[in-house]
Amino acid sequence: MTRTEDRSYWNATAGEGPAFPALAGDLEVDVAIVGGGIVGVTAARLLKDRGQRVALVEARRVGRQVTGKSTAKISSQHGILYQTLERKFGQDKARLYAEAQEAGIREIARLARQYGVDADIEPTPAFVYTNDESYVEQIEKEVEVARRLGLPASLTRDTGLPFEVLQAMRWENQAQFHPTRYVAGLAATLPGEGCHVFERSRVVDYDPNRVVTDAGSVRAGAVVMATHLPLGQVGLYYSLAYPMAEPVIAAPIRRVPPGMYKNAEQPGHSIRTHRRGDQVYAIVAGSHYKPGHPDDELRYMADIERWLAAHFDAGPVEYRWINEDYSAMDSAPFIGWSSHGGNGYLVATGFAAWGISNGTAAAMIIADLATGKENGWSAIFDAARIKPVAGAGEFVKENAEVAAHLVSGYLSRKPKSYDELAPGDAAIMKIDGDNVAAFKDEDGRVHAVSAVCTHMGCLVGWNATDRTWDCPCHGSRFELSGEVIHGPATKPLGSRITG
Ligand SMILES: Cc1cc2nc3c(=O)[nH]c(=O)nc-3n(C[C@H](O)[C@H](O)[C@H](O)COP(=O)(O)OP(=O)(O)OC[C@H]3O[C@@H](n4cnc5c(N)ncnc54)[C@H](O)[C@@H]3O)c2cc1C
Ligand code: FES
Repeated sequence: MTRTEDRSYWNATAGEGPAFPALAGDLEVDVAIVGGGIVGVTAARLLKDRGQRVALVEARRVGRQVTGKSTAKISSQHGILYQTLERKFGQDKARLYAEAQEAGIREIARLARQYGVDADIEPTPAFVYTNDESYVEQIEKEVEVARRLGLPASLTRDTGLPFEVLQAMRWENQAQFHPTRYVAGLAATLPGEGCHVFERSRVVDYDPNRVVTDAGSVRAGAVVMATHLPLGQVGLYYSLAYPMAEPVIAAPIRRVPPGMYKNAEQPGHSIRTHRRGDQVYAIVAGSHYKPGHPDDELRYMADIERWLAAHFDAGPVEYRWINEDYSAMDSAPFIGWSSHGGNGYLVATGFAAWGISNGTAAAMIIADLATGKENGWSAIFDAARIKPVAGAGEFVKENAEVAAHLVSGYLSRKPKSYDELAPGDAAIMKIDGDNVAAFKDEDGRVHAVSAVCTHMGCLVGWNATDRTWDCPCHGSRFELSGEVIHGPATKPLGSRITG
């Protein structure tokens, strides 16, 4: 069976990469970083450059979760965002966001160069286009706002796409890269001089000065939660940002467009390319939907397959996978201390599917804050800007109901026993009063686990592409075995005896 991670084109083509030991025993450093995606590894590198002793603790393999499943555009062009930021936060703060993204782009190039990381960084323009009359004005306004903020934007209908567009914007000095090779390559430079990288080491307990796995612990002056969404209850970010899942495919193409593209309307189509040997692959992402909702997943997956085939002279789709990101309720990521006064955790989340530039900027901010320096961009990213919501319990109950509804809603036929499942089918079913998530594989073997998410009790939903159980409430993902893929959950789904 394909490893869940390796469904992603990037992870499958990254090679084995450097391997790091698991944490065993107890250790003391200046900064402990939980999570080895683009945020964690970049922050670790920048902190090491400042002479800090860092321990990075990764639950699985570095770079292979959300970062290694993205489309990996290195871009400050984030759809139609700047007019929203300017409206909600004002021009000065919107400019800080823009500056942080541009700095993030430059930082990736600088780090790759300085440390000799071969990540196929390819400079290319980025376009957002529309063929829907109702978005034309927004694109025109976005260019106006972006230029005011100092971003390299212009209007054009000349996109290089193999179809006409009603309107489009083009941004210069953007790039695309191989995300898994970048993160793994940077991680390889970390061990030594008091710094460590640990893989296959899931943090299951933590406080602001200590992280604990089943096999060891790290004590530190500061703890960075670079786990995509902070774990468990940290900062209650699960109530301030919501998860979005998106289908992604990779296929060889013969008609190669000269840039990276995204449309403004729905259904969403985002495309970039990557040369592998003699062949150019297109990596295409589609519309977003609530995780664990396979009707939408399969519809949007079919849509991008049709779209790619219709326009780019594509060969068969070779990779299909699902990725997830979080969007902050007020549109700006949360980066910095989880509570005012410099205590708590350093966090970075809510990138709204733009975490390559945001994640690198986050690492730069975190490196400053962890070493007692101020960072001017913090004014827009302030991670303590919203007080924890009162009535979180009510919120969770409501979400649990939504999730239960979603999960039972998508099944037109509701099996009541494993015998009723056809090979390849999955269902949430009630067995002896318990909610059970069951999947029958092609050999007739049933994989059954508790359907109750170990974060806060929502019912998980099926991910038909990756064959995982994904939580609609706050985006935790679990293997068929119940093992956590990523949080905010830290504990596996309960086991079931399948008989
Ligand atoms: C479909 C899609 C396409 C995207 N494309 C782009 C794009 O083109 N450009 C762009 O800028 N952004 C893109 N993004 C967004 C971007 O990929 C993410 O925002 C970014 O990669 C998040 O990085 P991260 O380091 O926070 O998370 P991750 O890469 O997920 O890293 C977090 C790490 O923490 C580890 N972890 C979790 N829990 C624990 C624990 N308990 N103990 C130890 N380790 C733990 C995980 O295993 C993981 O390795 C896309 C997102 C999606 C969904
Ligand atoms: S992720 Fe929060 S309840 Fe599942």
